[in-house]
Amino acid sequence: QLTPIDRAKYAAARRAVDLVEDGMKLGLGTGSTAAWMVRALAERVREEGLRLSCVPTSARTADLGRELGLKIVSLDEAGWLDLTIDGTDEFDADLTLIKGGGGALLMEKIVATASDRMVVITDASKEVKTLGNFPLPVEVIPFGWQASRMLIEELLNAMDVMGTSATLRMNGARPFVTDEGNHILDLALGRIGNARQLSLALNQVPGVVENGLFIDICDAVVIGYGDGRVETRD
Ligand code: A5P
Repeated sequence: QLTPIDRAKYAAARRAVDLVEDGMKLGLGTGSTAAWMVRALAERVREEGLRLSCVPTSARTADLGRELGLKIVSLDEAGWLDLTIDGTDEFDADLTLIKGGGGALLMEKIVATASDRMVVITDASKEVKTLGNFPLPVEVIPFGWQASRMLIEELLNAMDVMGTSATLRMNGARPFVTDEGNHILDLALGRIGNARQLSLALNQVPGVVENGLFIDICDAVVIGYGDGRVETRD
């Protein structure tokens, strides 16, 4: 028996998968909502015999896709993608996103920007007036990560951002390690006034690989509800 939140995620996933056409090259997102999309996609491939090439944004999604019989290829094999479907942690009225709660933000951003179109699938709880309640994930290389953290905290202070603490994401007693072998600092900001400025500034800090702000990348957000209704913002 599905919970209302799972029904909402599934409804959004199904609607986004309707956009898929035979022969497409697709980016597959990461997270629990994206997992519903991978299942719905595999169902269409089984029923309609669609020929698709799928580029996963994480090892987790690659495993799930393979298990369900999808053709998994690397981004370099695919070259350029027609469509990426992914979840999000927050989105606002401009379709700016915070992603990376699942730790896959780097591959997610590369795959989404290498696509003609990015469609986000979500339940209504991820919609916000102002981004930043969800801690902003920043991927840093392990070498000298504490120096990177100090530089980030200094930067946030100088930018007069509300929260200035960067917390190393843990996996039990050890630092969390991304698929690309990096660590994640979660920035508790409260609110993000100027996402573009913050994103550019963070990516200038030595050791920072990428941050979880997706600006001008998402083309549409499909919002699912527990009763199966779906609403699209674009
Ligand atoms: C993964 O790194 C994230 O960007 C996910 O897209 C995000 O955490 C959404 O996950 P859920 O669909 O599980 O909420």
